[in-house]
Amino acid sequence: MSTDTADALREQVRARYAEAARAVEGGSPGCCGAPFYSLVEREELPGAAALASLGCGNPTAVAELREGEVVLDLGSGGGIDVILSAKRVGPTGVAYGVDMTDEMLALAQRNAREAGIANAHFLKGEIENVPLPAESVDVVISNCVINLSTDKPAVLTELARVLRPGGRLGVSDIVAEDQLTPAERAERGSWCGCVAGALSRGEYVAGLEAAGFDDVSVEFTHEVAEGMHGAIVRGVRAG
Ligand SMILES: C[S@@+](CC[C@H](N)C(=O)[O-])C[C@H]1O[C@@H](n2cnc3c(N)ncnc32)[C@H](O)[C@@H]1O
Repeated sequence: MSTDTADALREQVRARYAEAARAVEGGSPGCCGAPFYSLVEREELPGAAALASLGCGNPTAVAELREGEVVLDLGSGGGIDVILSAKRVGPTGVAYGVDMTDEMLALAQRNAREAGIANAHFLKGEIENVPLPAESVDVVISNCVINLSTDKPAVLTELARVLRPGGRLGVSDIVAEDQLTPAERAERGSWCGCVAGALSRGEYVAGLEAAGFDDVSVEFTHEVAEGMHGAIVRGVRAG
């Protein structure tokens, strides 16, 4: 992909999610995330955080967070997974969210305040260049964001950089079956709609292994278009 195409796509993504954040501020629901959260989890969230859920899974449920851990959510949107993570890791732990869209950061900060959460921090940045030091994070989560990146190798390298050796990855994302070409993925949905930019299962596994992850797995959970799935992606940062 040329630099111009990548820059244009990134701007489309930013505009699309700025609009989604404004819609939530105006009381409209997000697209697809809330059904993935249990009733108990939804009761832990302020109304706008649940409304702002734009994910394709529930990464905090798969990450098995422990008290005192440092968690990073890539593309934190309205903050739902950061707020849930902050509760799971407790006052001795920290949950960070990184997002490039100002409107989403403002919404997430408001949601964390309303939830009374002090150990959630939202940082402006791009997931290809995470504003945190190397080996500073125990667990990376992300919910339907990596498919939106125009530079997946940079994202996977950043995951490995920020995680401590032995640190875990628990990501929800849209993933294609291996036989689908990039053109066939694009026929099934848009880039901003989380479909066209999806990696295939084989590409995800190879990319994570090349970045320095062991025990990589990609588990399909639900089909979103022919040959395209919501999936749970796991891995452990090699020691
Ligand atoms: C589909 S929404 C998901 C939001 C949230 N994870 C959730 O589950 O509700 C995608 C989010 O990722 C952010 N995003 C997309 N590409 C990004 C990038 N390259 N760097 C940082 N944030 C990005 C968008 O601003 C948006 O808030």
